[in-house]
Amino acid sequence: MKLTAHPGAPLRGEVAVPGDKSISHRALIIGAMAEGETRITGLLESDDVMRTVAAVRALGADVARDGDIWRVRGGPWRSPDAPIDCGNSGTTARLLMGAVAGRPISATFVGDSSLSRRPMRRVTEPLRQMGARIEGGDTLPITVHGGRLRGIEYAMPVASAQVKSAILLAGLGADGPTRVIETQPSRDHSERMLPLFLDEAGRLRGTDVPAPGDPSSAAFLVVAALLVPGSQVTVRGVGINPTRIGLFETLRDMGGEIELANRREVGGEPVADVLARASRLRGVEVPAARAPAMIDEYPLLAVAAAFAQGGTAMHDLGELRHKESDRLAAIANGLAACGVSVQVEGDTLRIRGGAAPGGTEVAAHGDHRIAMAFAVLGLASAAPVCVDGAEMIATSFPGFADLMRGLGARIEDA
Ligand code: S3P
Repeated sequence: MKLTAHPGAPLRGEVAVPGDKSISHRALIIGAMAEGETRITGLLESDDVMRTVAAVRALGADVARDGDIWRVRGGPWRSPDAPIDCGNSGTTARLLMGAVAGRPISATFVGDSSLSRRPMRRVTEPLRQMGARIEGGDTLPITVHGGRLRGIEYAMPVASAQVKSAILLAGLGADGPTRVIETQPSRDHSERMLPLFLDEAGRLRGTDVPAPGDPSSAAFLVVAALLVPGSQVTVRGVGINPTRIGLFETLRDMGGEIELANRREVGGEPVADVLARASRLRGVEVPAARAPAMIDEYPLLAVAAAFAQGGTAMHDLGELRHKESDRLAAIANGLAACGVSVQVEGDTLRIRGGAAPGGTEVAAHGDHRIAMAFAVLGLASAAPVCVDGAEMIATSFPGFADLMRGLGARIEDA
């Protein structure tokens, strides 16, 4: 499916974005591990999250949608009859491998062609150290035989919230304590959510989990508003967990007018309304230490940098090669196709900003965030940009094009 984004039309208005993807996966998985009923509001109803719904059902949980509430009834898990198909979703695969490892069951994990290329040893290695028996190499398909684990102390070699969460979920079923040591803090949604479920005896009990708006989805609206002259957009109820909002900080460093209002706490997570106004951006040196807090936002930051005055440099981007696509290559090729001066030197991305001519077709490479980032570029470039492979947007942000159109953007099916 193709989408064409046309430049010029300002975005104006106030909207909410769908629920947080990371929190949605975790609420379903921990809810399925808990005794009794968990009620999730604001669950992201995207392809990736529906993979987790199907997976926890296959593992024995009851999951039902009841109006705006998703009800999960957990209990003892069973070995599923068929492989768990995680589709495009790394979070489904990695978190569930950990959760399965902690239980006396077996499950085989498979995924689509993109997920089947992504590295899994980063999860299976610590799970093996805990005593899980695992069949397979670095990539899916992988079979996990769980049960009788022992807790470990594990120093993370890569900053990854998926790996950290997999170990913590496995640790819940292990003998003795499990400790994960991070040198760079990754998103901490699992650590914030688990206490909502734990009773005094250390058992998981069903609870209420509200999912705030996903900052990684709000980011596309925020950047579009900053780039298209005359725009002003408010996104209500966005998660502003400090481990997630590196992009907003960087955009502010670039001169972007972004305000956080009506700050509150919902289900252990900080939330705010995010207001963005069209701004003149300037290039910056992005601190490498900020990478984990904006790991999913580099495609979009690269688009913002294309319109900033001067150069922007982003360092230590090696992890981007292991996302839904090789994002470093996809960003560089897409920007070059749009007439932007871009260089990759090792794990550093350099962009010389000013303006983007556009007027071309960009491939999404099976990657939702690449698709949305280049649609945003087309709203601000000199000539329209057509994104090929836009169907992948449904993995994380169903309704993206309609929401943007509702704010005034010109995005056409083409
Ligand atoms: C996620 C962690 C990040 C992120 C992904 C969601 C999570 O992946 O890119 O979109 O929910 O834990 P890594 O753990 O591989 O960095």
